[in-house]
Amino acid sequence: MAALTDSLDRQATPAELTERYESVRRASNGLGANLSDADATVQSMPDASPAKWHLAHTTWFFETMILRERDPGYRPFDDTYNFLFNSYYESVGERQPRPKRGMVTRPALDEVMAYREYVDEAMSRLLEDGPSEDVVELIELGCHHEQQHQELLLTDILHLFAQSPLKPAFKDPQPLAVEVRDAAPVSFETFDGGIVDIGHQGEGFAFDCEGPRHRALLEPYKLADRLVTNGEFIEFIEEGGYRDPLLWLSSGWADILENGWEMPFYWEKRDGEYWSMTLRGFQPVDRSAPVTHLSYFEADAFAAWAGKRLPSEAEWENATKGLSMDGNYVDSGRLRPRPASVEGDGLRQMFGDCWEWTRSAFSAYPGFRPVEGAVGEYNGKFMCGQFVLRGGSCVTPPNHIRPTYRNFFPPNARWQFSGLRLAEDN
Ligand SMILES: [Fe+2]
Repeated sequence: MAALTDSLDRQATPAELTERYESVRRASNGLGANLSDADATVQSMPDASPAKWHLAHTTWFFETMILRERDPGYRPFDDTYNFLFNSYYESVGERQPRPKRGMVTRPALDEVMAYREYVDEAMSRLLEDGPSEDVVELIELGCHHEQQHQELLLTDILHLFAQSPLKPAFKDPQPLAVEVRDAAPVSFETFDGGIVDIGHQGEGFAFDCEGPRHRALLEPYKLADRLVTNGEFIEFIEEGGYRDPLLWLSSGWADILENGWEMPFYWEKRDGEYWSMTLRGFQPVDRSAPVTHLSYFEADAFAAWAGKRLPSEAEWENATKGLSMDGNYVDSGRLRPRPASVEGDGLRQMFGDCWEWTRSAFSAYPGFRPVEGAVGEYNGKFMCGQFVLRGGSCVTPPNHIRPTYRNFFPPNARWQFSGLRLAEDN
């Protein structure tokens, strides 16, 4: 656990840790509360997991990484669950194949909720007994892990509900999900570049892949002061952006030919108007709000069309220095990106609204080594074939995001809240 030790919050008192654990677990239960057993069981595509699986797997994480290892008196809730709810930990054993998670019709949702309660009771005893420092670190990791799955649960439910002809809303569409306001005109902030420090160090939690902190050399660059809007993306569509191979990376163009992409994921055109499936139901596209549900390929093609480029993750992170992390996260209840504020100067929407694709491949920082043991499988083994996204989204829990946070997805992934901010060389 050495690599995680430095990054974890040593100041958390036992009471704070208990409060953190309980509030994270409550938030997940809240997400499950509006779902039927069927809603929570169906798997709408191999990349998405059933809500029931998210609720069980996050519980399995505490059971497997902490209770089974560190509590001699603990008895597993059900011996079959290690197979059903292990995600990708080779060192923990065989598991249900990911594309077949939706075949697990039993246990039902109420049994999964009983599993959650059982593990919570055991965790609460462990927390009362005063866990050792390394267990405290694992509990913190388990809480952040569960928050990642809260976001995934919402993106996966959106994908599932988008398949239904009834297009159900996860949350009531009223009151209006986003403010009606015009997007601020875009302008570009200039950065000098030079040798800058990037990555996590010091206090507070971070995943292992966010460090070590290291130097990066940046050429002078500019960064747009807000995200690209739906209205701007509609111009790209209507000027033939999806039909011009010169704008596209080869793999992205192959996706267009194979899948017929002609607008962002979840969009439809009805009577000349663009509509989109959202967590607030089927809604007209708000031209002032940030465009989201783009693949890396679409973000990159838009940037090429605009005569700009995507930022690198180091450029993005360097630009956050001194910025407030206030933003439109899941706790706002909007569950949709919101138009940029016209008030104030400087960069807007760096945090919340939607994840920002960067041109940086997800790979190891200089000096990175995965932590030892099963949790070493958390990030390091995915450092191939994926791109980094920064900044969090409208479904990210607010105390989960950091300037150094590196999310990552394959370049053709479209079901996350992924958008873009333009950059250019200065
Ligand atoms: Fe997981």
